[in-house]
Amino acid sequence: MRILLTGASGYLGVALMRYLSAIRREWDVHATFFSIPPDEGQPNAHPLDLRDAASVARVVDAVQPALILHTAALNAGDTQTMYDTNARGSGYIAQHAVKHNARLVHLSSDVIFDGRRGNYTEDDAPNPITPYAVSKADAEKNVLTSGANAVLVRTSLIYGFTPLDPRTRAILRGEMPRLYTDETRCPVWVDNLCAALVELGEMDYRGVLNVAGTQALNRYEFGVKLMHALNGDAQRLIAATSDASSLVRPRDCTLDVSRAQKLLKTKLLSVDETIALHKK
Ligand SMILES: NC(=O)c1ccc[n+]([C@@H]2O[C@H](COP(=O)([O-])OP(=O)(O)OC[C@H]3O[C@@H](n4cnc5c(N)ncnc54)[C@H](OP(=O)(O)O)[C@@H]3O)[C@@H](O)[C@H]2O)c1
Repeated sequence: MRILLTGASGYLGVALMRYLSAIRREWDVHATFFSIPPDEGQPNAHPLDLRDAASVARVVDAVQPALILHTAALNAGDTQTMYDTNARGSGYIAQHAVKHNARLVHLSSDVIFDGRRGNYTEDDAPNPITPYAVSKADAEKNVLTSGANAVLVRTSLIYGFTPLDPRTRAILRGEMPRLYTDETRCPVWVDNLCAALVELGEMDYRGVLNVAGTQALNRYEFGVKLMHALNGDAQRLIAATSDASSLVRPRDCTLDVSRAQKLLKTKLLSVDETIALHKK
């Protein structure tokens, strides 16, 4: 099967490349890059700018994939660039998935919700309150209206140990000591997410699916657990509140993953279970 993986230089993209080369060796994986060039001599690497419809057409038409794993996105920067990359870019990807009759696994986010309630199911309506969230919510709309054979995977904070995800690395280095106690998420171990994404790529489930960890934690609790697991100094972490900051941020974006638990063979793990595995 020929696969197109967008965002192969990102944290999830790198993990997926590694996972696919171990678990699906027979797959012909083509990978896209944006600002970070691929390793020299890496086969099947394609430059892609999601903001540019012609760039998307060039890559997808050249690869003609049976499956697109669409992880590429921009999570910071100016509002228009995020919108063009995430909302419009995902729309172009979906249109080309339709053209090539490709299965599409689209990465979405828990922050499309306003975070007032938490424990969101697949049937809850997004209500984004940040520019990034607006771009990801409209990405979902564009994918859904394209008619693509797509699963829209809503996930949460992605973390992992080898290599460390950028957020955990910053916490461990003492670059992010203030962590909010009033922002709750369902962090997902990157290896667990990769397994679920590949499984979904091979299934015909269509529509939204929550795929996240099974343990709701606030960012401070999560940071403390990671520091303990990585032999860091948890005392250095400072419990702060998003409420006291001037930032507009969704508070409780926890996801109900019961549908994914019924559907997938991949067992979704809690942070505690993942840490126990990591320590083995
Ligand atoms: N990380 C999380 O905690 C989290 C939580 C919920 C949902 N998600 C979703 O999961 C997905 C993967 O996240 P991640 O953390 O792996 O992201 P990441 O590390 O920031 O990687 C983003 C990827 O997108 C590529 N990219 C950026 N702008 C692009 C453009 N204009 N055209 C083409 N490619 C572009 C980047 O390429 P270069 O590096 O080459 O510039 C990089 O490969 C995203 O869709 C994100 O919204 C992530």
